[in-house]
Amino acid sequence: MLGACTVLHAQGTPQRSIWDGIYTLAQADRGKAVYANHCAKCHGDDLEGHDEVPELGGAHFMADWEDQSVADLVQRIRSTMPLDNPGTLSGASTTDVLTYLMQQNGAPAGSAELPNDSSLQSIIRINQQPPKKSAPAARVPSSTPVPVDSGARIGSASSKTASASRGT
Ligand code: HEC
Repeated sequence: MLGACTVLHAQGTPQRSIWDGIYTLAQADRGKAVYANHCAKCHGDDLEGHDEVPELGGAHFMADWEDQSVADLVQRIRSTMPLDNPGTLSGASTTDVLTYLMQQNGAPAGSAELPNDSSLQSIIRINQQPPKKSAPAARVPSSTPVPVDSGARIGSASSKTASASRGT
């Protein structure tokens, strides 16, 4: 018995956001360990930062990365952090620590891990707030034909099957 059915399949748009459940709890846990070992001494146990070290949790941090991709942030971390030893984290560890940061900033876990793959990560946007469901479709691909499938599905009214419309 499935309680809620998540209808999140964005039709035709490759763009996803961090609010789509892009990582797993186990992955964020691994990221937490990476964070504790390599980041916390500067950025703080609670991602709060210190004077010259920016926070990694909260509105300010998320605003810094608004509309950029997960790949951008992974790249930034991987090439510049830990500040005292940059370039030492593996791609997988950086991806894991990224998921921990996203978790701490409110993004929900999902059922699949975030792959350590920059082309996949590059289509996932960082947004401070979950995208509004009712946002107007700004970019409708005009070349995509929309199949008008108003299949006459007569529910459980009668056992009689509605005319199996057989096209010519
Ligand atoms: C030696 C101290 C130190 C360590 C360790 C460290 N950082 Fe940083 N971090 C800084 C400082 C200082 C800055 C700001 C200057 C800069 O951006 O280079 C910064 C900036 C950042 C930023 C940019 C923040 C923003 O608002 O855009 C991110 C992201 C980040 N660090 C992530 C990490 C992660 C993840 C780790 C662990 C893998 C880590 N840092 C380890 C000191 C550190």
